[in-house]
Amino acid sequence: MEWTIKSLDQYNTDYQRSLNDTENYWAQIAKTFTWHKEWDSVLSGDLSNADVQWFKNGQLNITENCLDRHLKDKGDKVALLYVGNDPLEKEVRYTYKELHEAVCKSANMLKSLGVTKGDRVCLYMSMVPELLISVLACARIGAIHSVVFGGFSSSALASRIEDADCKLLITNDAGFRGNKIIELKEIADEALTLDQCQCIEKVLVHKRVGNEVQMKEGRDVWWHDLYEKSSSDCPAEVMDSEDPLFILYTSGSTGKPKGVKHTCGGYMVWASYTFENVFQMKDEDVYWCSADIGWITGHSYITYGPLLNGATTTMFEGVPTWPDAGRFWEIIEKYKISHFYTAPTAIRALMGKGDEWVNKYDLSSLKVLGSVGEPINEEAWEWYNEVVGKKNCPIVDTWWQTETGGIMITSFAGVTEGKPCFATRPMPGIEPVLLDENGKEVTGNPAEGNLCVKKPWPGMLRSVWGDHERFKQTYLSAYPGHYFTGDGAKRDEEGLYRITGRVDDVLNVSGHRIGTAEVEDAIDEHPEVIETAVVGYPHDVKGQGIYAFLIVRSEQNEDDLREEIRAEVTKHIGPIAKPDKIQIVQGLPKTRSGKIMRRILRKLAAGEFNSLGDTSTLLDPSVVEEIKKGLR
Ligand code: WTA
Repeated sequence: MEWTIKSLDQYNTDYQRSLNDTENYWAQIAKTFTWHKEWDSVLSGDLSNADVQWFKNGQLNITENCLDRHLKDKGDKVALLYVGNDPLEKEVRYTYKELHEAVCKSANMLKSLGVTKGDRVCLYMSMVPELLISVLACARIGAIHSVVFGGFSSSALASRIEDADCKLLITNDAGFRGNKIIELKEIADEALTLDQCQCIEKVLVHKRVGNEVQMKEGRDVWWHDLYEKSSSDCPAEVMDSEDPLFILYTSGSTGKPKGVKHTCGGYMVWASYTFENVFQMKDEDVYWCSADIGWITGHSYITYGPLLNGATTTMFEGVPTWPDAGRFWEIIEKYKISHFYTAPTAIRALMGKGDEWVNKYDLSSLKVLGSVGEPINEEAWEWYNEVVGKKNCPIVDTWWQTETGGIMITSFAGVTEGKPCFATRPMPGIEPVLLDENGKEVTGNPAEGNLCVKKPWPGMLRSVWGDHERFKQTYLSAYPGHYFTGDGAKRDEEGLYRITGRVDDVLNVSGHRIGTAEVEDAIDEHPEVIETAVVGYPHDVKGQGIYAFLIVRSEQNEDDLREEIRAEVTKHIGPIAKPDKIQIVQGLPKTRSGKIMRRILRKLAAGEFNSLGDTSTLLDPSVVEEIKKGLR
């Protein structure tokens, strides 16, 4: 924590240094970690050539930095506070010593199942401590973890396992989530019977719920059987800075989800540095990020970031509204949470339940509030600030992406100013630019454009797993020499950034990234569907809802068909991608060359009839009138 930025002046100095003297700046930060061998060069390669490397030839293991490094001074400090779904279940605490031991034992367990450095391990688990432990156990032995969110369906799981060619799958018998039980093992079994999944040799099953599950002889092994027998001595595998640390799948505007590849050295420095500066924690503070480890936020800011900083991180199994809408606030009171990081969708959902749920609890432990995953609207920001934070807690609105590894644009709690709905300032090392459609930089303030980043930063993705060409195409080709984020942004008079949302065909539904193409592909699987177009529309709680327009083969009961379509999407992706609205239409607005005009569909779905723009170029302008009449 030697280099924490403590004032606006220091931020300005550091920011300038990070751009003008980049290598020395990051070398000084990187030196505060444990390395087996120092790097030969801090930064090599560039965005144009898609060959960026950080801390080249440096050797390290990230788990030594998360765990071993803290044993001397913080061995008895709580590293992980685990809060189960049921408020009556007692919390579990792991000190740094205990977490170190659990990770080492689990790492040996993975070894005994034949996992070695470079192998891919898929984690399909609910929010149990063993998920965080498995992540670190993989990293301990140099296996590459690929966590798949427990809400994805068997076919979504299967395609991710296959794409990364995973050898081992770790799952739970089932998971608790509010009043539901998610049958993870059953779904995993289904995934493995789909013939593309032949790469999996063993399945390690952790028992959480205690329901009866099928164990396949020779393939499936119980976690507790192996764990007991495992030694707690597991020296960390020495990794190269640029060895892959993990793969995490995320949706884009086209095709199937991409396996975003992050590497050991740069990601470690970035996750740690951003956590430290954004949250400004003191040793006695208790941090809670309510995300799921199945998403990047749970990787960087439940697992790696806090542990790299020797902080106490909280992991919660349940949902904000069960058993009632006071659950988050009850947890904050009970465990004296000081730093709370959540998504606007949760804030909006809880705001809708009324202030009395918040006011029932003593939230005086809170010092800092964070927001992540989607743009936060003004009303939600004000409510978070006043009702939750009592106007006493800085709000850090953190903009970043799976691909960026960590926070990119944000305020620093109590150090730089916040502004409602503004992410505000770039992290040191980040040079954001706004570009117009022609790729020309929009200079001066205020300004608006497509948000790009000019220079490589330590935490950036290095590739798309198995498809380097797609990496270049998706991120580095739209504006050569720049990383293109897919987001639009504005800069105000003072140069502070406000993210306005995706400019591509990616939806953000309750903070979950979903590609319209993926949803369309799933809907197309239904035999009655001839053609479909999916767009997002503004939704009070979810941020965006999913609107599907379909052309179908024959007349039939529309309500039944809607149910079947939702089931189809649940089967191929998961319930998070279910369309909120489904409208059956005779035709879709298309250009004369046959391209669907999504811009028009988006306007229609949002009910913005006055700004449809020019529809005269459509092949058949009358479809617009027809759709308008049938809007749901
Ligand atoms: C959006 C989540 C506005 C954005 C960490 C981005 C945000 C996408 C914010 C990445 C924010 C994330 N304000 N929009 N503070 N944070 N986004 O990969 O559109 O799941 O491109 O990473 O979420 O989503 P992802």
